[in-house]
Amino acid sequence: MKHLLKLGDLSSQEIFELLELAEKLKYEQKNNIPQSYLKGKTLGMIFEKSSTRTRVSFEVGMHQLGGYPLFLSSNDLQIGRGEPVNDTARVLSRMIDGIMIRTYEQQEVEDLAKYGSIPVINGLTDYAHPCQVLADLLTIKEHKGNLDGIKICFVGDGNNMANSIIVGCIKAGMKVAIACPETNQPDSEIMKWANETGNLLVTDDILSAAKDSDVLYTDVWASMGQEDEAEERKKIFKGYQINDELMAVAKEDAMVLHCLPAHREEEITAKVFEEHADEIFDQAENRLHAQKAVLVKLLG
Ligand code: CP
Ligand code: NVA
Repeated sequence: MKHLLKLGDLSSQEIFELLELAEKLKYEQKNNIPQSYLKGKTLGMIFEKSSTRTRVSFEVGMHQLGGYPLFLSSNDLQIGRGEPVNDTARVLSRMIDGIMIRTYEQQEVEDLAKYGSIPVINGLTDYAHPCQVLADLLTIKEHKGNLDGIKICFVGDGNNMANSIIVGCIKAGMKVAIACPETNQPDSEIMKWANETGNLLVTDDILSAAKDSDVLYTDVWASMGQEDEAEERKKIFKGYQINDELMAVAKEDAMVLHCLPAHREEEITAKVFEEHADEIFDQAENRLHAQKAVLVKLLG
């Protein structure tokens, strides 16, 4: 494993190894065991979109591992003024040890990896959010005891989260149902791959998708970059909501996850959110532990 660009690049074995490493790092941190695995290493973090969890978890994670995190806003970088990605990649490769990037186009992340000579980590693109799903898998494993055969139902937009959930969860042995409007399905290549495994259901029938689920998951109706479409999207996704009615068809002990930020009374009711807040904030915390595993694996 040289980069983390998308989960499709990882084998099931590599995903399981990252989860085991994350569990070990989490245990060490909780027990104040020193973790200087990345002493003297620098991670450049390029942000072309906003972030709370991704920025804080990478920054704190690097610090806990004895390394140095360098926050690089695209507002300040020459990349924001049109310097080509392949030049940026070659310059950064001469000065730092790894790059985390949050941007729009998946191609930009792939190009950074192609033209640079240091590990690149995708901190969210319009196509994928692999770091989030590693944290999600860690959280499901902690709460359910295992991943094999666990059913997850994602409700809402067939977006970056839906794409990464399909790939990551199926590779981890889970069954995935996506409840979304026909006009907003996940990436077609990903659906094709997943359909061949026999472990994916994509439907606009929310109740049948959620039936007997172990995990219900949702995300905002309008992602970053789609702010102008927010009002129209409220109409498209009306009803694609985790609420009591949906909880009633899932398994009795079903857990609820949300990558955050959440829009209460849109994709999830405030009631369900608060009833499952422990799971949702465990999930947020696990961004730190899962990403530390990625950092140790790639930069260590
Ligand atoms: N879930 C997530 O990536 O959160 P941020 O956008 O705050 O980083
Ligand atoms: N789909 C959301 C996820 C945020 C973590 C977005 O791209 O804005």
